[in-house]
Amino acid sequence: AAVDKAGYKHFMAKEIAEQPTVLQGALAHYIDAAGGSVTLPDPGIDFAGIERLTLVACGTAFYACMVAKYWFEQIARLPVEIDVASEFRYREPPVTPGTAALFVSQSGETADTLAALRYMAGKADRILSVVNVAESSIARESDLALPILAGVEVGVASTKAFTCQLTTLALLVLKAARDRGEIDDAILADHLAALRRLPGIMNAALNIETATRDLAQELSEARDILFLGRGAMYPLALEGALKLKEISYIHAEAYASGELKHGPIALVDPAVPVIVMAPTDGLFDKTVSNMQEVMARGGKVLLITDAAGARTASDGVWKTLILPDVPPFLAPILYAIPAQLLAYHTAIAKGTDVDQPRNLAKSVTVE
Ligand code: G6P
Repeated sequence: AAVDKAGYKHFMAKEIAEQPTVLQGALAHYIDAAGGSVTLPDPGIDFAGIERLTLVACGTAFYACMVAKYWFEQIARLPVEIDVASEFRYREPPVTPGTAALFVSQSGETADTLAALRYMAGKADRILSVVNVAESSIARESDLALPILAGVEVGVASTKAFTCQLTTLALLVLKAARDRGEIDDAILADHLAALRRLPGIMNAALNIETATRDLAQELSEARDILFLGRGAMYPLALEGALKLKEISYIHAEAYASGELKHGPIALVDPAVPVIVMAPTDGLFDKTVSNMQEVMARGGKVLLITDAAGARTASDGVWKTLILPDVPPFLAPILYAIPAQLLAYHTAIAKGTDVDQPRNLAKSVTVE
C-alpha cells in the first residue's frame, strides 16, 4: 500500500515520530499474553544447542548488530562475532559446528548481506534473519525470519527500522538467555516489563525535539563533529555519526570514548563539537572522565544523558540534552532518538534533501 507523509514535512520526520507506535506493535507480536516469555514464529530456535553466533549486516543494520553483540554476550553469555557484509565472505571465515548466523536487513534485499547469507548456508547450523520486508530474499532464504514490523520505511536514512531491529534483537537475546539458563524467570519478566514501558518512554523522549532544533542551528555550521560512547552506546555514537553524514553531509566520526586518547583527541578544538552519549550506567564515570579530557583541551561538548547524569556531569559542557530514565539494557534503543533528531534538524538547517540524500539509495541491490 502507498504511504504518504501524513502531514509531516518529510518521511524521515514521520518515521521518527512513529517509533513508539511501531515498537509497541513489535513487542505485542513477540511477548506472550502473560508477559513472561518471548514467542518466536515456527520453527523457532533453541539457543541451548548454539555455541556461537555470527551477526552480519550493512549500514545502520550493522550498528544494530553491534549493539546486539554486547547484549548477547552480557545477558545470554553467548560469544558473538560481527562483520559488515561486504567484508565477511571475502575473509572466508571458517565455520565450526554449533554456529548460528544472523543477518539483519531492513529491505531484505541488500546484495552484500544476501551474498553473506549464501556463504553461510550449508556451513552454519541455522540461518536466522531480522528483516522488515517479510517476503524479501533474505527472509525466504533463512531457516527462521523474524519480522521487525516497522511498516514501510521510505526515508533513505533508516530510523524506525533501526529501533525495531534493536527491539527484535533484544527480545531474541532474552530468549537466548532463557534457553541457555543464563537468566531466571523473575529477571526475564522484569526485562520484558521494561521493554513494554519503552514505547511510552520513547514518546516522552520525542520532547527533546525543540531543544535539538535549537542546537542544530549551531551544529550546522561545523565542518567536523565527533561522537563518543562506551559499551553499547559506542554503536549509538557510530549511528549518530552515520545519520549526520548521510543527510547533512557534515563529516562526522565516532569513537569508543576510551580510544580518544589514542589519536582522535588531536582533533579536539573549539570548532569541532563533541557529542557524548552517556546514560547513567556502569560506564558513566569513565565516559565522563573522557569527556573532561575533551573539555580540558577546549572542546565544545554536547552531553546527552538522563537527569541524574546531567546533575553530576554538566559542569563546563556546552549544552546538555536530557532524556528520560531507562534501564541501561534499553538505553541504546532510546538514545537512537537524539541521534536521529540531531541529524534531521541539522540537515534542515543546512537545507539538504532529507528524504533523498545525494549518492545514496534506500536499498543497495548491487555489490
Ligand atoms: C543502504 C541504506 C542504509 C541501510 C543499508 C542497509 O545503505 O541507505 O540506510 O542501513 O543500506 O540496508 P538494509 O536494507 O540491508 O538494512
